[in-house]
Amino acid sequence: MKAVSRREVIKTFALGAVFSSLGAKSWADSLLFELQQAPAFWEGVLKIDVNAFPALAEPLGSVRIGTFPIGANQKTEAWLKPMMINRGEGDDFYVVSAVCTHEECIVRRLDAGSRAMVCPCHGSAFEIDGQVRNGPAGFPLPSFEFTRQGSVLSISVPQLFYDVTVAQSASKARIELRFVAFFQTVYEVYFRETIDGPAQRVDFAVTEGGPATTSEFTGTINSEYVSLFVDKPGAHGFFQVAVKTGEV
Ligand code: FES
Repeated sequence: MKAVSRREVIKTFALGAVFSSLGAKSWADSLLFELQQAPAFWEGVLKIDVNAFPALAEPLGSVRIGTFPIGANQKTEAWLKPMMINRGEGDDFYVVSAVCTHEECIVRRLDAGSRAMVCPCHGSAFEIDGQVRNGPAGFPLPSFEFTRQGSVLSISVPQLFYDVTVAQSASKARIELRFVAFFQTVYEVYFRETIDGPAQRVDFAVTEGGPATTSEFTGTINSEYVSLFVDKPGAHGFFQVAVKTGEV
């Protein structure tokens, strides 16, 4: 049988799910962010609906998005570093890295009163757009380019390396999704019958012959090639490898 064309089948890649920063409801409240294929495979476009975040309904609201809780040392080892989405005085937004340019601690959300993002480690403060208000940091927080349609921000995320290949499994009984997994990143698989249809999470197997009962795969080292195996769906459709992300 002919191998399934990855470009026919995988049109999008999704980042999904929010977990509570309060710790009680970890990875709850599934919320699908779409990451569409960018011209270069190492780059992606993360689509975020700002209406999904109550904080962004208010002027000077701020959310910090990431794939893994911040460590006690205020840093992260995660591959996808946290980013900050700040709302301006009106209906304008800023998207910047949340990694302090001094020694890489993760800065706090924008404080509406002081209008600054303060680093918990040595007190650097950054303006709403990432410019340095005071050091020791000597460089602004890098900003991400984005476009906006209504409430949806399409954020260009460079260096994402999210290429996913799809093939029949060796026995032809299943479909193999192969991709590069990264440290402290949790992956799920979604299926949708049409490109615009609702996405449904599906269980997968981690070996070709194993039971398809696994719902998550967590990257333990960086740049590890991983194959997940899904049962063939009855209908034609689109598989998505999803990265869990949310407020951190
Ligand atoms: Fe942010 Fe030092 S790491 S001020």
